[in-house]
Amino acid sequence: MFRSNLVRQAMRAARVQPPRAAPTAIRPAARPAAASIRPFSSAPCRRDDSNRDDVDAATTSGEPGESGDHEGQYARTQDNIRVEYPEEDDLPRSQPVQGRGGVHSKRTLASFSLEDRVAVVTGGARGLGLVMAQALVTSGADVAIVDMNRDEGQRSAQGLIDTFKAENPGSTVPKVTAHFCDVSSPTSVNQSLSEILKEHGKVDHLVTSAGFTENYDAISYPHDRMQKLWGVNVDGTYLYAVAVAKHLMERQAHGSMVMIGSMSGAIVNVPQPQAPYNAAKAAVRHLASSLAVEWAHAGIRVNCISPGYMLTALTKKILEDNPELQKQWTSLIPAGKMGRPEDLMGAVTFLISDASHYVTGADLRVDGAYTCT
Ligand SMILES: NC(=O)c1ccc[n+]([C@@H]2O[C@H](COP(=O)([O-])OP(=O)(O)OC[C@H]3O[C@@H](n4cnc5c(N)ncnc54)[C@H](O)[C@@H]3O)[C@@H](O)[C@H]2O)c1
Repeated sequence: MFRSNLVRQAMRAARVQPPRAAPTAIRPAARPAAASIRPFSSAPCRRDDSNRDDVDAATTSGEPGESGDHEGQYARTQDNIRVEYPEEDDLPRSQPVQGRGGVHSKRTLASFSLEDRVAVVTGGARGLGLVMAQALVTSGADVAIVDMNRDEGQRSAQGLIDTFKAENPGSTVPKVTAHFCDVSSPTSVNQSLSEILKEHGKVDHLVTSAGFTENYDAISYPHDRMQKLWGVNVDGTYLYAVAVAKHLMERQAHGSMVMIGSMSGAIVNVPQPQAPYNAAKAAVRHLASSLAVEWAHAGIRVNCISPGYMLTALTKKILEDNPELQKQWTSLIPAGKMGRPEDLMGAVTFLISDASHYVTGADLRVDGAYTCT
């Protein structure tokens, strides 16, 4: 049936069409007025100045700047904003969040519990990764922190254990380990995963938070830095996800993953220029959807969280150096505030746990409605 339709269509297309009559040339004497046959795009802009006012000057009928200096002010990138990702020694430390986890007697769904699960968090030594690792520990999981900064990873793992003990006296202490890995290297990814499997015996969940941003205008962006940025944000997310998926498939076990994208994967931030980062985060978001489809048959769910501006120790440092930037950012957030890293704790627990059993391939934006405007 399908084939015969195709054959019919092909025959119809091949049927000889009678030649069309050549258009009659317009003789000069019969031509209408010159203005009416001028192509639309070259028609002169008609201005009826008698009807013009300030609002009209803010439309395409106005000259650039005619309605004021503010034109495009909050909608453009500025080439003079340049922020390099700091060297390892200059990166500020993050602490586990105090007093927000712990035992409580409030009823909640059992499906949110991660007891008996093992989760890997890349980039878990600090910032959003550390807070999300803490959310998973608080929800019952054992956690393996994976980071390029070995010392900071170990300090943070110990910090999570200490915080848990202080908040849950008498409870079984979760296992939290730290592992060196450069997520952009396949060898390093595989080495760290086998180390984790030796210590924890299995992996059920993955959160990919290793990533960074830098600000250069596109023309000046150094190529090696751009490759590094994509290597960590995109390759790193992909490589770790594939390694964990292989392990889950070998075990014939179900599992779930959360990839940390950014609202920058859906919108273009202003005023700081960061085209490669925006493109990388769009890639992360679509990677999550694509792998969700590819691995659905194996019971592996893959979702994305796209945070807006979150006040990590690093963001704080950048804003302390650029106070104007803080005003511009918050002026563009409908909620009027930046998020705290803790605001991701519920989101990541939901997407990793069985509470989101039928949610896969989704992008959860945690951005104070930034991307709704
Ligand atoms: N902070 C924000 O406002 C914000 C907003 C949206 C998205 N994000 C995303 O969230 C993620 C975490 O950001 P953050 O603000 O917590 O950053 P951060 O710099 O505080 O933490 C990132 C961690 O990743 C590690 N890391 C960097 N390169 C690595 C590599 N090659 N291999 C292994 N580990 C590596 C760092 O050592 C660090 O511990 C990133 O993907 C970032 O793009 C952050």
